[in-house]
Amino acid sequence: MNSEDSIKPSRRDVMVVGAASSALLVNACQSATPTTYAEEGPPVVNETTSTVTLEVNGTPHRLTIDNRVTLLDALREHLRLTGTKKGCDHGQCGACTVIVNGRRINSCLSLAVMHAGDEIKTVEGFGTPDAPGPMQAAFIREDAYQCGYCTPGQICAAIGVLEEIRAGVPSHVTPSLTGPVEASPEEIRERMSGNICRCGAYSNILSAIQSVSGAV
Ligand code: FES
Ligand code: FES
Repeated sequence: MNSEDSIKPSRRDVMVVGAASSALLVNACQSATPTTYAEEGPPVVNETTSTVTLEVNGTPHRLTIDNRVTLLDALREHLRLTGTKKGCDHGQCGACTVIVNGRRINSCLSLAVMHAGDEIKTVEGFGTPDAPGPMQAAFIREDAYQCGYCTPGQICAAIGVLEEIRAGVPSHVTPSLTGPVEASPEEIRERMSGNICRCGAYSNILSAIQSVSGAV
């Protein structure tokens, strides 16, 4: 036997040491003061999933999903509602815009489990190819898209924008904080500024929104 072999532990040595360590650990745990639930509340389970009901376009969907899944991914990957698009996935392009409880949000910035009981509307909920809703019809009529990738987000955002204007919610460019809010080109451009169109269809998008608002 050379000197190297003499310091190399055998397989049996490793098992003996492992068993001894486990026994010490068990003894240490048993000798610790027992925890009572009355002191510290119920046991905390390391949950990584939740079961929630998402109401999308009027239809409830029961889902068990990882707590980290965004609303965007829940819509696209779990419910197969692929109208809502993923552009940047971090709140900078607006392609993922949906309406939640009447307000537009970036669905890539929101966790799905936060929306149990909310009323969620996606582009699919505003019309169909055969019977487009007023904003969808306006985008077609005004030729307000080119590749179309940003269009579902633009349509949802536009619907949300007109609701905000109707409700009198002022924006950065509203002349008066107390007076009525007009659907002016400046108002619409400002409020739609979070929705990027790489094809640059902005002027026709504005025309479409104005035509629905009754401003033109
Ligand atoms: S994908 Fe959500 S803002 Fe771009
Ligand atoms: S129509 Fe192509 S990105 Fe807007």
